[in-house]
Amino acid sequence: MPPPTGSHPSVLITGANRGIGFETAKKLAAKNWQVIATARSASFPPAARAALEALNPETEFLSLDICDQESIQATADYLGQRQAPLDLLINNAGIFLDHGSSILELSEHDLTRTLNTNTLGPLRLTRALIPCLKHSSRALVINLSSAAGSLSGMKDWSPAYSLSKTALNAITRQLAAALAPDNIAVCALSPGWVKTDMGGTDAPRSVEEAARRIIQLLETAPTELNGRFIRDGDDHPW
Ligand SMILES: NC(=O)c1ccc[n+]([C@@H]2O[C@H](COP(=O)([O-])OP(=O)(O)OC[C@H]3O[C@@H](n4cnc5c(N)ncnc54)[C@H](OP(=O)(O)O)[C@@H]3O)[C@@H](O)[C@H]2O)c1
Repeated sequence: MPPPTGSHPSVLITGANRGIGFETAKKLAAKNWQVIATARSASFPPAARAALEALNPETEFLSLDICDQESIQATADYLGQRQAPLDLLINNAGIFLDHGSSILELSEHDLTRTLNTNTLGPLRLTRALIPCLKHSSRALVINLSSAAGSLSGMKDWSPAYSLSKTALNAITRQLAAALAPDNIAVCALSPGWVKTDMGGTDAPRSVEEAARRIIQLLETAPTELNGRFIRDGDDHPW
């Protein structure tokens, strides 16, 4: 874990109501992190909320739609007025709309929505939360990327999703360089193919295993992770 700035390190997770985000929130709450669990719905789903509160009553719940600039700004303002450090931001929320579509027929709607959610959302949120991250002595931003975003192996599979993650990887590199002077590290992480609503039932990796790998990453100093694209602790080809 990164050395905590306060007694309990803090983490904000997007899309923490289900899937990898929820499981990671559970694991960090159980480890006594100050978890700010966000979901795009106006009220956090009651069952997920109860599960997180049972693990750590200090868990906070915020509504945050990463495609909505007002929602992003409201979150940044709310956290900013506390002047409290944010040690970890996990840009987890994402969508996968273009199963089986070709880049020649991909709809404008799917392309725009995917880029807005998977690429521009994490960039806009990270920028808005820089003041909170700066309050931490060693902050880390983890962008949930995908092997689909790796250019070296790219063919014609799910173009909107793939290129949204390639661009997220590029944003990771840009932010990593720009924020290094402020001691804010930024990395991209491929969680593997995971059994969630997005990954489907054929995926070989459980959501618990995916979350465990994310937590394991926190044993490495943030500066060693800066600017890297990582899968299971090793560098993934860009
Ligand atoms: N599962 C895999 O095999 C796999 C593989 C590689 C990478 N990833 C990446 O890992 C991350 C998590 O994936 P997952 O499998 O856990 O997906 P998931 O089960 O489909 O969950 C996606 C989460 O993102 C949230 N979300 C979507 N759009 C949002 C928005 N505009 N604002 C806020 N939240 C939003 C969803 O909220 P709602 O409940 O409101 O829809 C949900 O909480 C994604 O970035 C994904 O691309 C997953």
